[in-house]
Amino acid sequence: MPEVKFKGVKLHFTDQGKGRAIIFLHGFLENCSMWKKIVPELQNRYRVVCIDLPGHGKSECIGYVHTMDEMAEAVFKVVRTLKLRKVTMIGHSMGGYVALAFAERFPDNVKSLVLYQSTAKADSDERKNNRNRAIELVKQNHKSFVRKAVPQLFRPVNRKKFKTEMDWAKNEALSTPVQGIIAALGGMRDRPNREILLKFPPYSIHIVAADKDPIIAYNDMVELASISDQVRLHTIKGCGHMSYIENPEATIAGFNIIMKQN
Ligand code: MLT
Repeated sequence: MPEVKFKGVKLHFTDQGKGRAIIFLHGFLENCSMWKKIVPELQNRYRVVCIDLPGHGKSECIGYVHTMDEMAEAVFKVVRTLKLRKVTMIGHSMGGYVALAFAERFPDNVKSLVLYQSTAKADSDERKNNRNRAIELVKQNHKSFVRKAVPQLFRPVNRKKFKTEMDWAKNEALSTPVQGIIAALGGMRDRPNREILLKFPPYSIHIVAADKDPIIAYNDMVELASISDQVRLHTIKGCGHMSYIENPEATIAGFNIIMKQN
Protein backbone atom coordinates (compact mmCIF):
# COMPACT_ATOMS: atom_id res chain seq x y z
CA MET A 1 0.00 0.00 0.00
CA PRO A 2 1.63 3.31 -1.00
CA GLU A 3 2.07 5.82 1.77
CA VAL A 4 4.10 8.90 2.63
CA LYS A 5 4.93 10.67 5.87
CA PHE A 6 3.49 14.12 6.46
CA LYS A 7 4.27 16.05 9.66
CA GLY A 8 5.46 12.76 11.14
CA VAL A 9 2.26 10.82 10.45
CA LYS A 10 1.28 8.25 7.85
CA LEU A 11 -0.70 9.31 4.76
CA HIS A 12 -2.24 6.56 2.66
CA PHE A 13 -3.10 6.77 -1.03
CA THR A 14 -3.71 4.56 -4.06
CA ASP A 15 -2.17 5.11 -7.50
CA GLN A 16 -3.51 3.29 -10.57
CA GLY A 17 -3.34 3.65 -14.35
CA LYS A 18 -1.31 5.83 -16.69
CA GLY A 19 -1.95 9.14 -18.44
CA ARG A 20 -3.13 12.56 -17.29
CA ALA A 21 -3.38 12.61 -13.50
CA ILE A 22 -6.65 12.81 -11.59
CA ILE A 23 -6.56 13.17 -7.81
CA PHE A 24 -9.69 12.14 -5.94
CA LEU A 25 -10.35 13.61 -2.49
CA HIS A 26 -13.12 12.08 -0.40
CA GLY A 27 -15.51 13.95 1.90
CA PHE A 28 -16.15 13.98 5.65
CA LEU A 29 -16.49 10.46 7.16
CA GLU A 30 -15.42 8.94 3.84
CA ASN A 31 -12.09 7.56 2.58
CA CYS A 32 -10.47 6.23 -0.62
CA SER A 33 -12.96 3.37 -0.76
CA MET A 34 -15.73 5.78 -1.85
CA TRP A 35 -14.18 5.81 -5.35
CA LYS A 36 -14.29 2.00 -5.77
CA LYS A 37 -16.86 2.11 -8.59
CA ILE A 38 -15.32 5.18 -10.25
CA VAL A 39 -11.61 4.26 -10.42
CA PRO A 40 -12.00 1.11 -12.60
CA GLU A 41 -13.89 3.19 -15.16
CA LEU A 42 -11.12 5.79 -15.47
CA GLN A 43 -7.84 4.00 -14.83
CA ASN A 44 -7.59 2.67 -18.39
CA ARG A 45 -7.19 6.21 -19.69
CA TYR A 46 -5.86 8.22 -16.77
CA ARG A 47 -3.53 8.00 -13.81
CA VAL A 48 -5.93 7.91 -10.86
CA VAL A 49 -4.67 8.79 -7.39
CA CYS A 50 -7.01 8.57 -4.38
CA ILE A 51 -5.82 10.00 -1.07
CA ASP A 52 -7.06 9.29 2.45
CA LEU A 53 -7.11 12.77 4.00
CA PRO A 54 -5.55 13.10 7.48
CA GLY A 55 -7.68 11.45 10.17
CA HIS A 56 -9.69 9.41 7.65
CA GLY A 57 -9.26 5.90 6.23
CA LYS A 58 -5.72 4.63 6.74
CA SER A 59 -4.20 8.11 7.18
CA GLU A 60 -3.34 9.16 10.71
CA CYS A 61 -4.38 12.32 12.58
CA ILE A 62 -2.10 15.36 12.75
CA GLY A 63 -3.77 17.44 15.46
CA TYR A 64 -7.03 18.48 17.07
CA VAL A 65 -8.18 20.69 14.18
CA HIS A 66 -7.33 19.67 10.62
CA THR A 67 -7.63 22.88 8.62
CA MET A 68 -8.40 22.62 4.93
CA ASP A 69 -4.99 24.26 4.30
CA GLU A 70 -3.19 21.61 6.32
CA MET A 71 -5.03 18.86 4.48
CA ALA A 72 -4.09 20.59 1.19
CA GLU A 73 -0.43 20.52 2.26
CA ALA A 74 -0.82 16.80 2.90
CA VAL A 75 -2.20 16.40 -0.64
CA PHE A 76 0.75 18.41 -1.98
CA LYS A 77 3.11 15.99 -0.24
CA VAL A 78 1.61 13.17 -2.31
CA VAL A 79 1.69 15.27 -5.52
CA ARG A 80 5.39 16.01 -4.96
CA THR A 81 6.25 12.44 -4.03
CA LEU A 82 4.63 11.15 -7.23
CA LYS A 83 6.28 13.98 -9.23
CA LEU A 84 2.92 15.03 -10.70
CA ARG A 85 3.05 18.38 -12.46
CA LYS A 86 -0.52 19.42 -13.21
CA VAL A 87 -3.49 17.49 -11.92
CA THR A 88 -7.25 17.46 -12.23
CA MET A 89 -8.48 17.49 -8.66
CA ILE A 90 -11.93 16.12 -7.93
CA GLY A 91 -13.07 16.71 -4.36
CA HIS A 92 -16.30 15.42 -2.91
CA SER A 93 -17.81 17.88 -0.42
CA MET A 94 -15.10 18.38 2.26
CA GLY A 95 -12.66 17.07 -0.38
CA GLY A 96 -13.73 20.03 -2.53
CA TYR A 97 -12.93 22.44 0.31
CA VAL A 98 -9.46 20.86 0.46
CA ALA A 99 -9.12 21.06 -3.35
CA LEU A 100 -9.88 24.81 -3.18
CA ALA A 101 -7.25 25.32 -0.47
CA PHE A 102 -4.81 23.36 -2.66
CA ALA A 103 -5.64 25.49 -5.72
CA GLU A 104 -5.09 28.68 -3.72
CA ARG A 105 -1.69 27.57 -2.43
CA PHE A 106 -0.39 25.54 -5.37
CA PRO A 107 -2.09 26.94 -8.52
CA ASP A 108 0.81 25.85 -10.76
CA ASN A 109 -0.03 22.24 -9.99
CA VAL A 110 -3.68 22.52 -11.01
CA LYS A 111 -4.97 21.75 -14.48
CA SER A 112 -8.58 21.60 -13.48
CA LEU A 113 -10.59 21.88 -10.28
CA VAL A 114 -13.78 19.89 -9.81
CA LEU A 115 -16.09 20.77 -6.92
CA TYR A 116 -18.08 17.57 -6.68
CA GLN A 117 -21.14 18.34 -4.52
CA SER A 118 -19.02 20.95 -2.78
CA THR A 119 -18.94 24.72 -2.39
CA ALA A 120 -16.50 27.64 -2.25
CA LYS A 121 -18.62 29.41 0.36
CA ALA A 122 -17.65 29.44 4.04
CA ASP A 123 -19.95 28.09 6.76
CA SER A 124 -22.76 30.41 7.81
CA ASP A 125 -22.93 31.30 11.53
CA GLU A 126 -25.73 28.77 11.95
CA ARG A 127 -23.62 26.08 10.32
CA LYS A 128 -20.62 26.94 12.50
CA ASN A 129 -22.82 26.51 15.58
CA ASN A 130 -24.00 23.17 14.23
CA ARG A 131 -20.37 22.08 13.81
CA ASN A 132 -19.70 22.96 17.47
CA ARG A 133 -22.77 21.01 18.55
CA ALA A 134 -21.67 18.08 16.40
CA ILE A 135 -18.22 18.12 18.05
CA GLU A 136 -19.89 17.80 21.48
CA LEU A 137 -22.08 14.93 20.23
CA VAL A 138 -19.06 13.14 18.78
CA LYS A 139 -17.22 13.49 22.10
CA GLN A 140 -20.19 11.91 23.89
CA ASN A 141 -20.85 9.05 21.46
CA HIS A 142 -19.27 9.13 18.03
CA LYS A 143 -20.91 5.90 16.88
CA SER A 144 -24.39 7.23 17.46
CA PHE A 145 -23.42 10.49 15.68
CA VAL A 146 -22.17 8.58 12.63
CA ARG A 147 -25.15 6.19 12.52
CA LYS A 148 -27.53 9.17 12.44
CA ALA A 149 -25.44 11.33 10.08
CA VAL A 150 -24.86 8.94 7.18
CA PRO A 151 -28.51 8.23 6.19
CA GLN A 152 -29.16 12.01 6.17
CA LEU A 153 -26.78 12.29 3.24
CA PHE A 154 -29.03 10.26 0.94
CA ARG A 155 -32.16 11.43 -0.81
CA PRO A 156 -34.99 10.07 1.44
CA VAL A 157 -36.51 7.90 -1.34
CA ASN A 158 -33.08 6.36 -1.95
CA ARG A 159 -32.48 5.22 1.65
CA LYS A 160 -34.48 2.02 1.18
CA LYS A 161 -33.36 1.41 -2.38
CA PHE A 162 -29.67 1.62 -1.46
CA LYS A 163 -29.91 0.08 2.03
CA THR A 164 -26.94 -2.27 1.49
CA GLU A 165 -24.76 0.51 0.11
CA MET A 166 -25.89 2.86 2.89
CA ASP A 167 -24.90 0.26 5.51
CA TRP A 168 -21.54 -0.06 3.78
CA ALA A 169 -21.05 3.74 3.85
CA LYS A 170 -22.01 3.75 7.53
CA ASN A 171 -19.42 1.06 8.30
CA GLU A 172 -16.72 2.98 6.44
CA ALA A 173 -17.71 6.12 8.36
CA LEU A 174 -17.56 4.20 11.65
CA SER A 175 -13.93 3.35 10.90
CA THR A 176 -13.05 7.08 11.10
CA PRO A 177 -11.28 7.74 14.43
CA VAL A 178 -12.97 10.12 16.91
CA GLN A 179 -10.06 12.55 16.66
CA GLY A 180 -10.31 12.53 12.85
CA ILE A 181 -14.03 13.35 13.00
CA ILE A 182 -13.57 16.20 15.48
CA ALA A 183 -10.54 17.62 13.66
CA ALA A 184 -12.40 17.65 10.32
CA LEU A 185 -15.49 19.31 11.86
CA GLY A 186 -13.25 22.04 13.31
CA GLY A 187 -11.41 22.46 10.01
CA MET A 188 -14.62 22.78 7.98
CA ARG A 189 -16.05 25.26 10.52
CA ASP A 190 -12.96 27.47 10.27
CA ARG A 191 -12.51 27.43 6.48
CA PRO A 192 -12.59 30.79 4.69
CA ASN A 193 -14.80 31.76 1.77
CA ARG A 194 -12.91 30.96 -1.45
CA GLU A 195 -15.38 32.20 -4.09
CA ILE A 196 -12.74 34.65 -5.35
CA LEU A 197 -10.83 31.68 -6.80
CA LEU A 198 -13.72 31.06 -9.18
CA LYS A 199 -13.56 34.56 -10.67
CA PHE A 200 -10.39 34.54 -12.81
CA PRO A 201 -9.01 31.02 -12.52
CA PRO A 202 -5.82 30.08 -14.39
CA TYR A 203 -7.30 26.54 -14.67
CA SER A 204 -10.70 25.19 -15.63
CA ILE A 205 -13.33 24.84 -12.91
CA HIS A 206 -16.28 22.46 -12.89
CA ILE A 207 -19.10 22.16 -10.39
CA VAL A 208 -20.84 18.79 -10.26
CA ALA A 209 -24.09 19.27 -8.36
CA ALA A 210 -27.06 17.04 -7.54
CA ASP A 211 -30.54 18.51 -7.66
CA LYS A 212 -31.71 16.81 -4.42
CA ASP A 213 -28.56 17.33 -2.35
CA PRO A 214 -29.57 17.99 1.29
CA ILE A 215 -26.09 19.28 2.28
CA ILE A 216 -24.97 21.42 -0.66
CA ALA A 217 -28.14 23.11 -1.95
CA TYR A 218 -28.54 22.87 -5.72
CA ASN A 219 -29.75 26.47 -6.16
CA ASP A 220 -26.64 27.73 -4.37
CA MET A 221 -24.50 25.74 -6.82
CA VAL A 222 -26.30 27.21 -9.82
CA GLU A 223 -25.61 30.67 -8.36
CA LEU A 224 -21.98 29.80 -7.62
CA ALA A 225 -21.46 28.54 -11.17
CA SER A 226 -22.68 31.89 -12.52
CA ILE A 227 -19.72 33.69 -10.89
CA SER A 228 -17.73 33.46 -14.12
CA ASP A 229 -17.90 32.05 -17.66
CA GLN A 230 -14.98 29.81 -16.83
CA VAL A 231 -17.03 27.75 -14.37
CA ARG A 232 -19.07 24.92 -15.87
CA LEU A 233 -22.00 23.34 -14.09
CA HIS A 234 -22.83 19.63 -14.48
CA THR A 235 -26.08 18.43 -12.95
CA ILE A 236 -26.81 14.92 -11.69
CA LYS A 237 -30.54 14.44 -11.41
CA GLY A 238 -32.47 12.63 -8.69
CA CYS A 239 -29.62 12.24 -6.21
CA GLY A 240 -28.86 13.37 -2.69
CA HIS A 241 -25.33 14.05 -1.41
CA MET A 242 -24.12 10.52 -2.27
CA SER A 243 -24.48 10.50 -6.06
CA TYR A 244 -21.50 8.14 -6.41
CA ILE A 245 -23.77 5.56 -4.72
CA GLU A 246 -27.19 6.87 -5.78
CA ASN A 247 -26.23 7.12 -9.46
CA PRO A 248 -22.65 5.98 -10.18
CA GLU A 249 -23.26 5.81 -13.94
CA ALA A 250 -24.22 9.49 -14.17
CA THR A 251 -21.30 10.41 -11.92
CA ILE A 252 -18.79 8.53 -14.09
CA ALA A 253 -20.32 10.01 -17.26
CA GLY A 254 -19.93 13.49 -15.74
CA PHE A 255 -16.26 12.92 -14.89
CA ASN A 256 -15.59 11.56 -18.40
CA ILE A 257 -17.15 14.67 -19.95
CA ILE A 258 -15.04 16.88 -17.70
CA MET A 259 -11.83 15.06 -18.65
CA LYS A 260 -12.70 15.47 -22.34
CA GLN A 261 -13.40 19.20 -21.87
CA ASN A 262 -10.11 19.75 -20.02
C1 MLT B 1 -19.05 16.19 3.52
O1 MLT B 1 -19.80 15.37 2.99
O2 MLT B 1 -17.84 16.22 3.28
C2 MLT B 1 -19.64 17.16 4.52
O3 MLT B 1 -20.96 16.83 4.79
C3 MLT B 1 -19.54 18.57 4.06
C4 MLT B 1 -20.04 19.55 5.05
O4 MLT B 1 -20.55 19.17 6.11
O5 MLT B 1 -19.91 20.76 4.80
